[in-house]
Amino acid sequence: MRYAVAMSQPSTAAVRSVADRLSAFGSTIFTEISRLAIEHDAINLGQGFPNFDGPDFVKQAAINAIKDGHGQYARMFGIAELNRVIAARFNADAGLGVDPDAEVTVTSGCTEALIATFLGLVNPEEEVILFEPYYDSYRACVAMAGAEPKFVTLRPPDFAVNEQELRAAFSTKTRAILVNTPHNPTGKVFTTSELELIAALCKEHDAIAICDEVYERLVFDAEHVQLATLDGMYERTVTLSSLGKTFSLTGWKVGWAIAPPELTAGVRAAHQFITFATATPLQHGAVAALEAPDSYYAEFVEAYRRRRDVLVEGLERIGFEVYVPNGTYFVLADHTCFGFADDVAFCQHLIKEVGVAAIPPSAFYHDPADGKNLVRFAFCKDEQTLRDAIGRLEALRR
Ligand SMILES: Cc1ncc(COP(=O)(O)O)c(C=O)c1O
Repeated sequence: MRYAVAMSQPSTAAVRSVADRLSAFGSTIFTEISRLAIEHDAINLGQGFPNFDGPDFVKQAAINAIKDGHGQYARMFGIAELNRVIAARFNADAGLGVDPDAEVTVTSGCTEALIATFLGLVNPEEEVILFEPYYDSYRACVAMAGAEPKFVTLRPPDFAVNEQELRAAFSTKTRAILVNTPHNPTGKVFTTSELELIAALCKEHDAIAICDEVYERLVFDAEHVQLATLDGMYERTVTLSSLGKTFSLTGWKVGWAIAPPELTAGVRAAHQFITFATATPLQHGAVAALEAPDSYYAEFVEAYRRRRDVLVEGLERIGFEVYVPNGTYFVLADHTCFGFADDVAFCQHLIKEVGVAAIPPSAFYHDPADGKNLVRFAFCKDEQTLRDAIGRLEALRR
């Protein structure tokens, strides 16, 4: 065989690389910024992963599961104990009566829940409404499903939903709207009246809602309202979440989708062929996590409130116009006063000259010009790291 290869003529035709549906996306901005951060030894306030580890009681439960021989495929839609605790927690928060086996699907992170939902429930050429700035995987999910994105822009300073623009985005082809609350990257927590408007439009147009709630526990000065709890919405909503943010275990990739049986059928139709099942020992760890007492969440939010305040106060002192987040672990700020052409030029300067990595948010808009004055910082880092980053950012004032 090696001989045959050596003797064959070099081919003149280039091998086709990435399929058309994904070729426009390239590698994600997070991969790119993390690579540059390492290369320039910058403090990484870019990608949203904590620089501290998750709780011992969760890790120990996964270690025990490995030692106890839970090493084979799990049930396709999740181990029974995990489905049970996910449903119990959702029912307690939402006041609903979700059935753990018929309405909860455990996935490999919210990322897999998203693509399983899109592939299982959205047909090619149907339309999906995305608020922008958006978490970048949504647009790729729409593309992988062969659907059409429709954008509704959330604008500073408060990133409120513009009713006229939202109404105009709905059409006879609308299949779904994606609602991410608390919202990455703005830190916005959707208000009850905004959610009521979304609910009314979903019902009027017979559309479903896909709710990404991975930051559901990271809420500071607002109340997180679940769209699924509004009148007549549970039956047309898929609620997605995961363990990663709330338990500082982003690398575990344990997530879930909660939806009525008709919509769950679509999610599972795709999930069974994407990953089939999620890592069994980590599902056992997730059970321990979701059984954590309320005090865990209270301490978790307070620690994040302190981190947010360190970063926000530091950025304001340096001169940024900061849009203080009500939720998530991200801060958007306006960098215009520093005189850079756009967010990409500013972030390159930050990484290479200042030693701090942040994300240029133009990657989260269909028209990059909309994000060019902004920069996103993550504060899922210990307080000392945040203070060190602020210390370096002081260089911008000189
Ligand atoms: C809004 C949003 N959704 C989903 C995810 C991915 O979640 P997971 O790590 O559980 O796949 C992230 C991660 O940053 C996110 O910010």
